[in-house]
Amino acid sequence: MTASEVTELQAALLAEVAAADNLDALEAVRVSALGKKGRITAQMKGLGQLDGDARKEAGQALNRVKDAVQDAITSRQADLDSVALEARLAHETVDVTLPPRPRPGGHLHPVSQVTEECIAIFGEMGFTVAEGPDIEDDFHNFTALNIPPEHPARQMHDTFYLEGKDGAPQPVLRTHTSPVQIRTMETSKPPIRVIAPGRTYRSDSDATHTPMFHQIEALVIDETTHMGHLKGCIIDFCRAFFDIPDLPVRFRPSHFPFTEPSMEVDIGCSREGGELRIGNFGEGADNWLEIMGSGMVHPKVLEYGGIDSTKYQGFAFGMGIDRIAMLKYGIPDLRTFFDADIRWLKHYGFVPLAVPSMVRGL
Ligand code: DAH
Repeated sequence: MTASEVTELQAALLAEVAAADNLDALEAVRVSALGKKGRITAQMKGLGQLDGDARKEAGQALNRVKDAVQDAITSRQADLDSVALEARLAHETVDVTLPPRPRPGGHLHPVSQVTEECIAIFGEMGFTVAEGPDIEDDFHNFTALNIPPEHPARQMHDTFYLEGKDGAPQPVLRTHTSPVQIRTMETSKPPIRVIAPGRTYRSDSDATHTPMFHQIEALVIDETTHMGHLKGCIIDFCRAFFDIPDLPVRFRPSHFPFTEPSMEVDIGCSREGGELRIGNFGEGADNWLEIMGSGMVHPKVLEYGGIDSTKYQGFAFGMGIDRIAMLKYGIPDLRTFFDADIRWLKHYGFVPLAVPSMVRGL
């Protein structure tokens, strides 16, 4: 190869490097010049046929070409890399002046919100959620809960009866979530720790009663479960739910057929100026508000559920979800819950993405 041919080869290769306008094209140039079958490599192989000084000279000249081309490739690669980076940065910029995303249009109903809040609190305590049917049979809604036929408690429930099949007791719309206690006992073994939120029905309607409403039931059964557990669980729940750490909680003797002993639970409140507020306002006779029923599960109920009452004992409680929603969020009339008025929902509804949790807050 003559000196001028070497110069020509270098000029041609450098021109190709300069013309490569992306990394793939540049790599192709590199392979065609410096690769195993590349043009410089081919010339190198031919050196063996020369002798003495001529070989030395040609070898040095080719090495210079090789270095020059290699340097050109390295610097072209750096240029192309930075062009690629610039393009990516331009493409991925965040425009911090853009307006925030709009709030989702819909709202969560307070009943859904409060149900989620209860699940978050009881979930933290180790409860799982249990379910039962809205249309119940007489056995689960009454008899198995120690409310036999002709028991006066049946009258108090203002029951909606459905049409029965020849001679069988009429099915009912469940009047409370307590039948889920029985269904859970039937299908699982102790230890049991469940809550059961859901719809309930009674033929009743005024500012604080609607024919359909919601309750949440809790049931705990184990060999050593006692009333201290019941009290601790309920006190912790009330204080967490209303977010008032010193909320007074009082247990008042009462009667339910399915528990023995039975207690109604009152929380502290103030009625000053005709306005009801939940909180610690001292222990005055008028500063209590009933919010739930509770008790130690009656041995007969355990037996109806198929659980050995000589070995196991438990506690249960139940409350109205709509009612505690009204109390917590200051909603005066229960009937408005079910009017499906979009203005009401916008006012009292919750942002669906703000999921209640004990870690992030209810
Ligand atoms: N089922 C009762 C009602 O609807 C509420 C209740 C009271 C549930 C005491 C319980 C309980 O589990 O132990 O009025």
